[in-house]
Amino acid sequence: MSVHKEIKRITTHTLQEFKEEGIKISMLTAYDFSMAGIIDSAGIDVILVGDSASNVMAGHETTLPITLDQMIYHGSSVVRGVSRALVVVDLPFGYYQGNSRVALDSAIRIMKECGAHAVKVEGGSEICESVQRILSAGIPVMGHLGLTPQSIYKFGTYTVRAKEEAEAKKLMEDALLLEKTGCFAIVLEKIPAKLATLVSKKLHIPTIGIGAGGGTDGQVLVSHDMLGITKEFKPRFLRRYLNLADEIQNAVKQYVDDVKSNNFPNKEEQY
Ligand code: KIV
Repeated sequence: MSVHKEIKRITTHTLQEFKEEGIKISMLTAYDFSMAGIIDSAGIDVILVGDSASNVMAGHETTLPITLDQMIYHGSSVVRGVSRALVVVDLPFGYYQGNSRVALDSAIRIMKECGAHAVKVEGGSEICESVQRILSAGIPVMGHLGLTPQSIYKFGTYTVRAKEEAEAKKLMEDALLLEKTGCFAIVLEKIPAKLATLVSKKLHIPTIGIGAGGGTDGQVLVSHDMLGITKEFKPRFLRRYLNLADEIQNAVKQYVDDVKSNNFPNKEEQY
């Protein structure tokens, strides 16, 4: 549970204060009202409405198919369930790259139609113009570097990024550029812990790691993975806190048995 549970509402400024005070930032994904409410009431600092919804909610192999309308549906459901955490919504693939006007329109729709507090985008120098334009409308932007799943067909695999010097150098330059442009935080995904620590020390804004070691200013996991709803996904960086898939399966088996054996409903469970 967060040591700062007494804070009424987490803002981008709170996260900056956390970094300055050496308080780690906790972040998890959520995609619906009920789960968002549970996660929020447990004291999480940031809820990310990740485009990982494409995988864990819709069953797609990658994050590429999810649309802006679908992200807005998930985002608005989450916002209705949250009273304390900062809610960040991913801009999906195809709605911000290459055209900063499109990026601005997408970000405005996310803010207006979800009631979200910030957007997240993947990439560095390539999307800098889009980041600038979104920021110019007063919309806070979170960056995302390292393994950026929207570029999976460029990378070819989900293995650790920036192990070689040239890619590590580019990542550091991109992180500094995103900070200079005005991002309030940056997610660092699946990069060597040493590099993530170095980036975190160089930047004034917070870094939030996933598979990037303990030297970042915060940590993020996909809630379905850490709760054990997804069972097949077992990367080294993932810590499972529950085996919810087994728990749900056992409860459903019990229900099926009870219905079949006429054990449910009983006299107290009817009118
Ligand atoms: O979409 C997502 O869930 C993410 C996290 C893995 C950081 O971007």
